[in-house]
Order: sequence, then C-alpha cells, then structure tokens
Amino acid sequence: MATPAPSDAQHPDSSPAAAAAGPAAPPSGAVGGRPVRVHHLRAAKAAGTRLVMLTAYDAVTARILDAAGVDMLLVGDSIGNVMHGHDSTLPVELDEMVVATRSVARATKRALVVADLPFGSYEAGPQQALASAVRLMKAGASAVKLEGGRARCETIRLLSQAGIPVMGHLGFTPQSVHALGGFRVQGRGPAGEELLADALAIEEAGAMSMVLEMVPEPLAARVTRALGVPTIGIGAGARTDGQVLVWTDMAGMTDWSPRFAARFAELGQELGRAASQYAAEVRSGAFPRQEHWFDS
Ligand code: KIV
Repeated sequence: MATPAPSDAQHPDSSPAAAAAGPAAPPSGAVGGRPVRVHHLRAAKAAGTRLVMLTAYDAVTARILDAAGVDMLLVGDSIGNVMHGHDSTLPVELDEMVVATRSVARATKRALVVADLPFGSYEAGPQQALASAVRLMKAGASAVKLEGGRARCETIRLLSQAGIPVMGHLGFTPQSVHALGGFRVQGRGPAGEELLADALAIEEAGAMSMVLEMVPEPLAARVTRALGVPTIGIGAGARTDGQVLVWTDMAGMTDWSPRFAARFAELGQELGRAASQYAAEVRSGAFPRQEHWFDS
C-alpha cells in the first residue's frame, strides 16, 4: 500500500487517541491542573509558583503555545495592533473577539483561556459588561479581562456573581491610551498609592487576578505583596506572581519589540527565509517533487 500523501494523513492532534489522551500533564515547575483552573492560580501564588501567560489569537498558534506548557492564553485585544494592523486596541469589536476566542479555545487543552472585553463593550455599565462577557464565555473563554480600577468594581462584582471569573488590568491600560497621553509608565510618585488602592478595591470586588502593565518595579512588588490574588506583570519587573507577553514580541515576529519584551526567537526572519526558499523552488521547478503529488 502506498504511503499516504501529506494531505491524506490525519492531523496528529485530531486522532481519536490524541483526543482520548486529554490535556497534557503540567510541565515540571508549573502550576498544577489539567486543565488549569482559577483555583490553581491562587494556589500557585501561595506556593510561589510563577505563572506563565502569552497572548494567542488563532488556533494554530494556541495549539503550539498550549503544548509548550503556557498556563494561560490571553485572547488579547492587542489582536487589533498585532494581527489587524491598527495602531491601538480601540477599533477592536466584540464580534472579532468572539471569533478569536472560539479559535483559541478549540485548540487549547490545558491552558486557562482569558478573553479581553474590548473597548466599548463594558464601559456603559455592569449590564452591558455582563452581556458582552457572556458572549466571550459562550465562545469558550474561562475568564474575561477588563481594564480599570475602582470605577469597575460594580461591574467586576456583577460578573463574579454571575460565575464569570474576572482578571483586572491596571497601570498602563491600552484602551485609555489617549487619556493617559500615550504609552507611558503609570503609578510613579503619589499615583502609586492610587494604583494600590485600585488593586485592593478590584480584588475586594472579586477580581481573581490582575495584569500590572508598565508600572515601576517596586510598586508592582508592593501591590503583589498586598494582594491575595496573583499579579501578572508586563513591563513591571520580576516580583509579580507571573508574566505575560504578546506572543509575537516574545517570538521575534516583528522588526521592533518593546523594551520590556525579550525576544526568545527570531521567527519573523525564519518565516521570511522559508517563504523566499518556497518562492525560489516554485520558480525553479524544484517544488513540487514526486512525493508531493498523486500518480492516480
Ligand atoms: O491585549 C493584550 O495583549 C494585553 C496584554 C498587554 C496584557 O492586554
């Protein structure tokens, strides 16, 4: 019998055996849970186990990041900048977040999927936020994230009471980029006390965790010590309970990445190299070869 051509072969992840195997076991040193659930995050903080979060916007990437042992996948509204070429997160619509959340959730076995409530989908009040969050949860999210401090307490309380885990987001909040006067570090000087008060208030309202973005390292450490729920830092130093990065920054997909994002690969260059080789082989006739076609 002929070896099946690649397009005849079943995708490894879609086999019944793979489906029966279920979520991967937690990697060594990682938070327990297959899948990771909200109570594992609090337990991780208590045990001093660092939490690992990356953004994901589609199934192909989510499958890779989940299999790599990332604890949380954030369907971030950074999809607007990263995937759709906008210069901020403001144009992102709830419908786009629903599609991306479905794609990520379908491909994820172990990681906790958190979906961003985009700009305009929750600020009108708790009822608007609930309706928007329900759509993201129905799409497969296990939690939602929203930006803001004390002004969001009522909303966080309602969502939590409705059984929707909420991750907060303080410090530089990209949806307020215009009000904040650009991409600037937040919480310097006396503003640090305000940020701490926001963190304590949203924890009390029910936030199960929170992102601290672009805040001074000593302040992020102080907020982390003051809270029972885990903090996830981005540009906030090493003393938060976990770290989050935009996956394309982490993997070096673009020419530029922010100062706080280390590049763990140069995938952009590698993708360009692969595409150039493919183009050259199509033009020279080196691709396709006999193993790539069907004789009958
Ligand atoms: O949308 C996003 O990518 C985020 C991270 C920066 C935390 O909110």
